[in-house]
Formats: sequence, C-alpha cells, structure tokens
Amino acid sequence: MTNVLEDPAPLQLNYVPDEFQGRENEASELKTAFAGSEEAPLPNLHVHGPRGTGKTQVVNSVFSNLPKRVSKAYVPCDKYDTQYKALKQICKAFSQDVDDGHHTSELQRKIGEQVEVMKTVVILDEIDFLLLNDGDDLLYFLSRLENSDNISVVTISSNTKNLESLIEERTYSSLQPRRIGFEPYNGEELYQILAERAKKALASKSLQREALTYIASSTSNLGRSLTWLRYAAKTAETTITEELVREVEASAYQEYVNQLLDDFTEHHYLVYEAVYETSGEGEDSVRTGKIYEKYQELCRSTEKEALSDRRISDYIKQLELLGVVQADYYYGGKKGKTREVNLG
Ligand SMILES: Nc1ncnc2c1ncn2[C@@H]1O[C@H](COP(=O)(O)OP(=O)(O)OP(=O)(O)O)[C@@H](O)[C@H]1O
Ligand SMILES: [Mg+2]
Repeated sequence: MTNVLEDPAPLQLNYVPDEFQGRENEASELKTAFAGSEEAPLPNLHVHGPRGTGKTQVVNSVFSNLPKRVSKAYVPCDKYDTQYKALKQICKAFSQDVDDGHHTSELQRKIGEQVEVMKTVVILDEIDFLLLNDGDDLLYFLSRLENSDNISVVTISSNTKNLESLIEERTYSSLQPRRIGFEPYNGEELYQILAERAKKALASKSLQREALTYIASSTSNLGRSLTWLRYAAKTAETTITEELVREVEASAYQEYVNQLLDDFTEHHYLVYEAVYETSGEGEDSVRTGKIYEKYQELCRSTEKEALSDRRISDYIKQLELLGVVQADYYYGGKKGKTREVNLG
C-alpha cells in the first residue's frame, strides 16, 4: 500500500460494483428477454460491444439474479476454446462430476439431460476465440438440443457485431440470437464511474480532477482506464496529477496488456513482444515473417523452443481479438495473401 492507494481492490478489473451506472437499458433488455411466462421458450442472445464496456459483468449480474428454477453456466471461451473444454465447464457448472476421459458425446448427453429437467442459461463469453480455434460445432449442438425452448445460449463478443458472419448458416438459423449492443460510455459517464471507484480506493484529496478528466477523455475502455488509475496511484507520492497520469500512460497500458495476456501462454507474450520490438524499428506495420524471425530470436535468448509459424500465426489472430495488435491483409506477393501487423 502507498500513501495514495489505500485499497487496490476497487480499481481491479474483477471488482464488481454495486450498480452499473449507464447500463440500465442494456440490463433491462437482458431481463426482459427472460421475463416471459414460465412456459415461454428462452431466447438466445448475442451481446456485443467494444472492450471495457461492462459486457461480462452486466450479463453475469443479471443472470445471477435469475429465479432459482433457472440454472446458469458461465464459460470464458478465451480460456476454454474447444467444444470439449467448454462442454466440460458447462457440466461442472451443473455440478455433475466430470473427470477426464469422458467422451464429447457423453458430455453432450449429460447436458441434454440437464436441459430436459431444468431451464438453463449458457453464457459463452469471448466466443470468437472458440470459433477461431474450433469452429461452430458447440453452438450447433446447443442450438439443436431436443428441448431447445429450455435453454438460452448467450454469446458475448468484443469483435463481432453479427454472429452470422462467423458461423455456418444452419447454426445461425437454429440459433437466431437477439442482438444486444453495449455502446461505449461517453466522457461524462466514464468520469463518474472512475470517480466512484477512486473514492473507494484512494486517500481523500489525492486525486486531481484534471488527472481523471485526462484519463476519461483518452480511452473509453474501462479496463484500461482503471488499470491506468491504479498504476498512477501506486506511483504517486502524495497526489495524482495530470502530469503524472501522462507520464505513466505508456507503462500503464503495458500493464493492461499484461493482464489480458495473463490467461494465455508465455509464447503469446513473446509474440506480442516481437510485434512490439519490430514495430519500434521505424515502420508502422511489419510483415508477419519479420515478426516470426523476431519471435524465434526471443525464444533463443530465453532458451525456449520456438513454435511453428503456423501456430504463431494463430497466436497473432488471438492478439488481434484481444485488441492489442491490429492486422491488415493484402493480396499479392509470393504467398498470395500477406499480413501486416501493428500495435493496437
Ligand atoms: N457502469 C459501470 N460502473 C462501474 N464499473 C463498471 C461499469 N461498467 C464496467 N465497469 C467496470 O469496468 C471493468 C470492465 O468491465 P467488464 O469486464 O464487464 O467489461 P467487458 O465489456 O466485458 O470488457 P472486455 O471486452 O475487455 O472483456 C470492470 O472492472 C467493471 O467493474
Ligand atoms: Mg468481458
């Protein structure tokens, strides 16, 4: 703890606030979808919006207040990115014992049985990662369950407004999700939300108004701005000034990226570092070949065995989904399609 930071928890990303200012409409849209009679079929939903707009927490808080007769499974698909891993998580949420060695079809059968006897909500957060890695078999299976009126599939994405573009037509047509968009907060809302969290975390009078205004006007991603504020608070001696906030902007952003990468492998981190270092070499964007060379170099210097360029190309796509790198695709060149990557 420092003089300024009295309690880091309210500035941490997994901290759940008592209320979600500015998300009343989205929360009530979610609730209305489940407000029908007990016999009404449960709808499927697709929740989308930029990073740090409250999707994960608002969806979870609405669904944890559902009536007891509805069971709920939450699966972060960046971590559980195959049908098998996700099915296992869903079974676990229904407190069915699943040791290793169960076959996919067996897990599917268990879930089918569960849905037969109980209304069920399955939340698939960061759905893009699973689709990228394993296709849409899981969604197809869930959408085609015999008692599909009894199950609601809720997908969440920071990248894809319309699921239709990512999944097969037969899956989409049986899923037919209702879309719920989370718009970025405006400057005023960001300021209020951050001020509220700061009040709980910081010593009184330790935060200058201009410092908070600067953060709120620089990014609408609350994950990034909360991390930024926490970082500044850790650095400050007595007061968080605008000057300090500007000074730590780049390091605080790196801290935010590190938190995102925490759930991934060390090779993801090395790839990110490779993009970071190569893009520092004068050009804005670099070809993937060059990134791969840099990555190999980093592996050698840390005595790790490099993964194939195929795998690394997938990792770059995952970094893209996280929003920490951007890629542009060009046609032409030796390999047909080439990719240029830069920092997000
Ligand atoms: N209206 C709000 N009031 C207070 N805190 C909020 C509000 N909306 C979001 N937050 C906070 O912002 C952080 C990010 O929220 P959350 O993880 O739900 O966003 P997200 O849209 O899922 O982000 P990502 O796309 O990166 O997963 C959390 O710490 C959350 O508590
Ligand atoms: Mg989220």
